Parts: sequence; C-alpha cells; structure tokens
Amino acid sequence: MRIKIAPSILSANFAHLQDDVDKISNADVLHIDVMDGHFVNNITIGPVVIKDIKTNLLKESHLMIQNPGKYIKPFVEAGSQRIIFHAETVKDTEALIEEIKKHNVEVGVSLNPDSPLSMIKPYLEKLDMVLLMTVFPGFGGQKFIDSVVPKIKELRGIFEKDIEVDGGINFETAKIAAEAGANLLVAGSFVFKNKEHLPAKVVEMLKNI
Ligand code: DX5
Ligand code: ZN
Repeated sequence: MRIKIAPSILSANFAHLQDDVDKISNADVLHIDVMDGHFVNNITIGPVVIKDIKTNLLKESHLMIQNPGKYIKPFVEAGSQRIIFHAETVKDTEALIEEIKKHNVEVGVSLNPDSPLSMIKPYLEKLDMVLLMTVFPGFGGQKFIDSVVPKIKELRGIFEKDIEVDGGINFETAKIAAEAGANLLVAGSFVFKNKEHLPAKVVEMLKNI
C-alpha cells in the first residue's frame, strides 16, 4: 500500500499557522488535533480556527473530546472532510458513525493504546478508516508505544482501508508501523520541529520509508 502522510498541526506555530500549513502541501492529509481539557489534559483548537485554514489536503479532525456527537455539525461546517472520534468517549459507537455519515463526510474511529480492537470490530465495515494511537493522546513529542504494533497487525488482517497511526512517528517508528500494516502516518513534531530537514523534505522522506 502507498504510504500517506498526515502532518499534525499541533506542532506547528499557531501564530503563523497558515505559513506552516503551506510548508507541507506535498502531504496527503492535514491532521487537526482537537482537545477539550476533559478527555485529555490539554486544550487546543476548534471549528473557528479550522474554517480559516486553506489547504488542498484532506482536512481531518481528530476529536479528543468528551461528547463528540454534540459537535459534528460545527466541525463539518468549518470544513472538516473527515471526522475521527474516540471509541472511549461514546456509549453508542455505531449511532455516532451513522450520524457523521449523514453529513456526507468520512468517518473514522480512534483507539487509545490500551483500548482493544474488540471495541470497534463490529463496526469496521461502516468506517472509512481507523486511527490507532501509538501514544496516549494529549501532547505532541511523546515516545511511540511499541506494544501497539500487534494491534496494527491484527487490524490489517481484517481491514482493507486506511489504518492511521498517531504519536511518536519518526523514520524508525514509521517503518515499524508501516511494516505492521499502517498506511497513513501522522507526524507532528518530527515534521514541524525537525532540526535537520525542512517540513516538506520530512514528508517526502516519510512517504518513501
Ligand atoms: C497526540 C496527537 C497527535 C500529536 C502527535 O495527542 O493526537 O496527533 O500531534 O505528535 P507527535 O508526532 O509529535 O507525536
Ligand atoms: Zn492526533
């Protein structure tokens, strides 16, 4: 499978956000980390920022928020083309998948490193993609958790669409995740805070991992 790259703007400079987004136009997906200070211990951005970002990349919103169902409409109206919510945040996963589909956007579900695949297995056919967290969500710059690798492998055995990994991705861990079956790699600090290469160069190198 072709490797696709989703730079996470969490590690961009929010005072110059559009400039940083323009630096990674060779990527595939723009990964937007939405945090509410409840589901995770950090607060980031919401629809008011997303609506002003101009990009040709697919805008995906990774909702690390409690009660995501309440906010689907504003995120879609702000231009999110794919909504990813956490299975840990909802009682009825299937109902929210259906609700998001009604808005004619793509839908993905995310699992924390310690959440089992069984939480989403019954709904795989309804999903456009799955996001497996390779760190506990909340902050950029954390270390890739190796124990998620078997989960990536198991999912690839039963799921043909995009498997995205998020957290601690660098050249080394990108290779490990891709070999396990991930084909969409989120990278935040490695793209935007790389001391050796410009962001576009990192994206290009990750694509060819
Ligand atoms: C973590 C976020 C990630 C984060 C990844 O909660 O979901 O998208 O930005 O950052 P790095 O690539 O620095 O681990
Ligand atoms: Zn993310």
